Amino acid sequence: MIPQHEVPSYLTPHEIGPWGDYLTQIERVTPYLGSLSRWVETLKRPKRILVVDVPIERDNGTIAHFEGYRVQHNTSRGPGKGGVRFHQNVTLSEVMALSAWMTIKNAAVNVPYGGAKGGIRVDPKTLSQGELQRMTRRYTSEIGIIIGPNKDIPAPDVNTNEQTMAWMMDTYSMNEGATATGVVTGKPISLGGSLGRREATGRGVYVVGSAAAHTIGLNIEGAKIAVQGFGNVGGISAKLFAEAGAKIVAVQDHAGTVFHSNGLNVPKLLAHVAEFGSVVGFSGSEEKMSRDNFWDVDCDIMIPAALEQQITETNAHRIRAKIILEGANGPTTPQADDILHAKGVLVVPDVLANAGGVTVSYFEWVQDFSSYFWSEDEINSRLTRIMTEAFNAVRQVSVDKEVSLRTAAFLIGCTRVLQAREMRGLYP
Ligand SMILES: NC(=O)c1ccc[n+]([C@@H]2O[C@H](COP(=O)([O-])OP(=O)(O)OC[C@H]3O[C@@H](n4cnc5c(N)ncnc54)[C@H](O)[C@@H]3O)[C@@H](O)[C@H]2O)c1
Repeated sequence: MIPQHEVPSYLTPHEIGPWGDYLTQIERVTPYLGSLSRWVETLKRPKRILVVDVPIERDNGTIAHFEGYRVQHNTSRGPGKGGVRFHQNVTLSEVMALSAWMTIKNAAVNVPYGGAKGGIRVDPKTLSQGELQRMTRRYTSEIGIIIGPNKDIPAPDVNTNEQTMAWMMDTYSMNEGATATGVVTGKPISLGGSLGRREATGRGVYVVGSAAAHTIGLNIEGAKIAVQGFGNVGGISAKLFAEAGAKIVAVQDHAGTVFHSNGLNVPKLLAHVAEFGSVVGFSGSEEKMSRDNFWDVDCDIMIPAALEQQITETNAHRIRAKIILEGANGPTTPQADDILHAKGVLVVPDVLANAGGVTVSYFEWVQDFSSYFWSEDEINSRLTRIMTEAFNAVRQVSVDKEVSLRTAAFLIGCTRVLQAREMRGLYP
């Protein structure tokens, strides 16, 4: 059963979108929070929402305006932390939900951050490099009043990357009058970035996915995997699973789907995407597959690594995988969670599965403050340890309380956030 949620006056009921999914997830964990449930309303209201106008001069001399957001959902455990997304479908509901999932995720893996997220409603593919740079800089300047190395630290997300972070760092630094590398993570290595950050989310997905497979007796070697989204998260996860002997049988991105029953050649597919911008036209695909048929693919693990609300009550019953490994944030709706649970599919939730990115972002931030940089081996082994421990802790709670991995991860995360809230007390 999906409850009706109270909708804040700044969202209309039909716009509740991913924020509604998040509220249902909070409803589901609340009965397990004991006396801390007194504080649970704090998780249902973002602490701070900033909506900004981002005007730029286009290359042709016209002026374009874009809608920009930064939401700080909760800062009880530390500064806000979360990515910045450039996408034509960005909405306030989406950014609110993404910021809230960051709160839960950061607490679930115990990095000392609150949760935040930002975005601009724009299709960046329609902008030149110069326009993209001007938009990124103006947005950074507009949200500059609430971000900072000790306040809120953005990072890359969908359609943003190291170059975006370099422009953001430079803009913030110019406004401050001093170079502030710690204001963003996911920077280029030459500007205070961390080794292993680019691969960190995909690596974490691989580590947690392998641990989850082990618990159901599934061998990664020879396992069939379908991946939706072949960008930073989907591309790296697919590469690591393929290197471990899995067969990546299907890959879908924004433009199309490719399939090979014996496994696609992942390095060649990555090279194709780097050259042509999508998987479409890849010569190593066995057959053409419609977008919708992706959900019927015969596979052991499905990795949604694109956008929210992809697995819903309309397609969940068709999924043949034994494990859903959430690389994306919010890919599975609560209704789909129920269907998958009834089918015996193990859903490894986003707030655990994709936490590798923010974990190495935390390493990057620590390295920036101490101006002392670690080796890639050190980073990867610390990442693997944190992700494995987090998975084991979540699984233990799920067994003890007889709840899904998602509710278990929420239970750990919400408990840490609400304990901090209670101990700090309400100001004034
Ligand atoms: N980058 C990170 O470190 C990180 C960390 C944690 C979670 N995530 C989450 O992972 C997801 C992907 O992020 P990313 O950084 O890999 O982004 P990205 O921009 O690098 O890649 C996004 C991919 O999704 C595909 N895509 C977009 N729309 C699609 C659609 N409708 N159907 C199928 N595929 C579609 C794109 O073609 C692309 O392959 C997002 O949910 C993001 O919030 C990212």
